[in-house]
Amino acid sequence: MMDPSHSQHTVTLTVNGQRRTESLPPNLLLSEYLRDYLRLTGTHIGCDTSQCGACTVLVNGDPIKSCTVLAVQLPGAAIDTVEGLGRPGALHPVQEAFRADHALQCGFCTPGVLMTAVALLNRDPHPTEAAIRRGLDGVICRCTGYENIVTAIAHAGARMAAPQEVSQHVD
Ligand code: FES
Ligand code: FES
Repeated sequence: MMDPSHSQHTVTLTVNGQRRTESLPPNLLLSEYLRDYLRLTGTHIGCDTSQCGACTVLVNGDPIKSCTVLAVQLPGAAIDTVEGLGRPGALHPVQEAFRADHALQCGFCTPGVLMTAVALLNRDPHPTEAAIRRGLDGVICRCTGYENIVTAIAHAGARMAAPQEVSQHVD
């Protein structure tokens, strides 16, 4: 019988700033790696068929549905999950805005929506409403009707851009 270790692949990933070298099955989804190996269960699985976006994480800064990619396909990648975004008492501006603007109800979609929003605002801190709605194309929320999500993302963008703009003004 074949030694099962022969079918493992070695891959080095940086997850939420922590570098890890892992021996993983070649068919392991990134979502399974994050949830089952690292216990980062903030990455939710809503459909497993690349439709809902609840599993969205950042891969080298881009929002990626983690149920659509194998962990061993990402050697050297930087992965950011919702667990690395903020913590109680030190929330990310997008998390602060979601709380202030009531941009979640059941919260199931929220990790994926937050990561999508962070990627969007990193690219464009002042997105138009249309750009925000386009950016949310890949994530489905069954509760909110999206209105408060769009508002929160716009407010978060303004908050994230403000210190930079102040320092540019001062300079
Ligand atoms: S669980 Fe990945 S898109 Fe739905
Ligand atoms: S808040 Fe319930 S699915 Fe989005």
